[in-house]
Amino acid sequence: MRTLSGVQSSGKLHIGNYYGAIRQFVAMQDQGEALFFIANYHALNSVRDAAAAKQLTFETAVSYLALGLDPSKAVLFRQSDIAELAELYWVLGTVVPMSNLERAHSYKDKLAKGQSPDFGLFAYPVLMAADILLYGTDVVPVGKDQVQHLEFARDWATKFNLQYVKGYDPQDPTGAKSKQPGILKLPQARLNEATAVVPGINGEKMSKTYKNTIDLFGPEKEVEKAIKSIKTDSTPPEAPKSLEAPLYQLLKVMAPESEWAEIDRTWREGGQGYGHYKGKLLGYYHAAFDAPRKRYAELCADPAGVEAVLKQGAEKARAYAAPVIAAVRAAVGL
Ligand code: ADP
Ligand code: TRP
Repeated sequence: MRTLSGVQSSGKLHIGNYYGAIRQFVAMQDQGEALFFIANYHALNSVRDAAAAKQLTFETAVSYLALGLDPSKAVLFRQSDIAELAELYWVLGTVVPMSNLERAHSYKDKLAKGQSPDFGLFAYPVLMAADILLYGTDVVPVGKDQVQHLEFARDWATKFNLQYVKGYDPQDPTGAKSKQPGILKLPQARLNEATAVVPGINGEKMSKTYKNTIDLFGPEKEVEKAIKSIKTDSTPPEAPKSLEAPLYQLLKVMAPESEWAEIDRTWREGGQGYGHYKGKLLGYYHAAFDAPRKRYAELCADPAGVEAVLKQGAEKARAYAAPVIAAVRAAVGL
């Protein structure tokens, strides 16, 4: 089984990125082949300053390593190091229906939030599909917001295979019966239901765009401030509390299993004030992230070491890409 995923280097990582994505990456590096990359091409849609783009790419790489991705187990690389990606992106784009892109949630959401409708934003799902298809990926761990992109990747791979592989049967994509496997393998999304959406401190989905995050590697004071400002209502300490509250949801994500039952019981029965639970949450944050935060600081002091990891990762990733891009080129007549 081959797993691949990526995170855009478009800002500081927050706990939503960890529980919704990176934690699964770390778990999956021990199962079969795993490739994880920094989506720094995608980030250009929002980061338009060279120094910032470089710095955020570096910080995302450091975050991966600090959170437990291990270059001896997984291939860690930078999206922009793989020239073959741009090639597949173009070829794939020739079979992508405009109507698919027009109904992409990510595009519509970002327009609604006032981002300008550039081609890069419009074509974002095509680049993401190329990311996935280039390496013959089987499984893609992602958050809920990315599921539509996975469906697109499957649809477009099918279209490509139908167009270019004689005798390809979409009911039999691996060619078990027809002996005509697709050139592009159909990937599957792997959603972690338990933490599919981590709420932000104001109750909306945690996202750097909404400025409602609890950051992974930000200054301790800011983390504390963010946790203190998690939105609560005026329910008194002795009363039962709402299960919809972002504080409850965050506790559910972060509490160790051994403590969750007790937290859940007192929350439902009443007896403790919100301050008590915020204190608990801060404790869980420290328990989970103090060690990664220390490693993060150490890695930041060793940029050459981080660069070497990415260079090696790129070489390995290109080896996965080579047979796929060769087959694609031959199939379309390049
Ligand atoms: P942001 O919304 O902050 O811009 P990204 O879109 O860059 O975050 O997300 C990177 C990864 O983290 C994706 O796989 C996404 O699904 C996951 N992710 C981001 N925010 C959350 C969240 N609040 N809950 C769960 N997963 C999330
Ligand atoms: N679009 C993803 C996000 O915003 C990042 C991404 C780019 C990605 N290419 C990918 C994720 C390929 C998984 C597979 O989080």
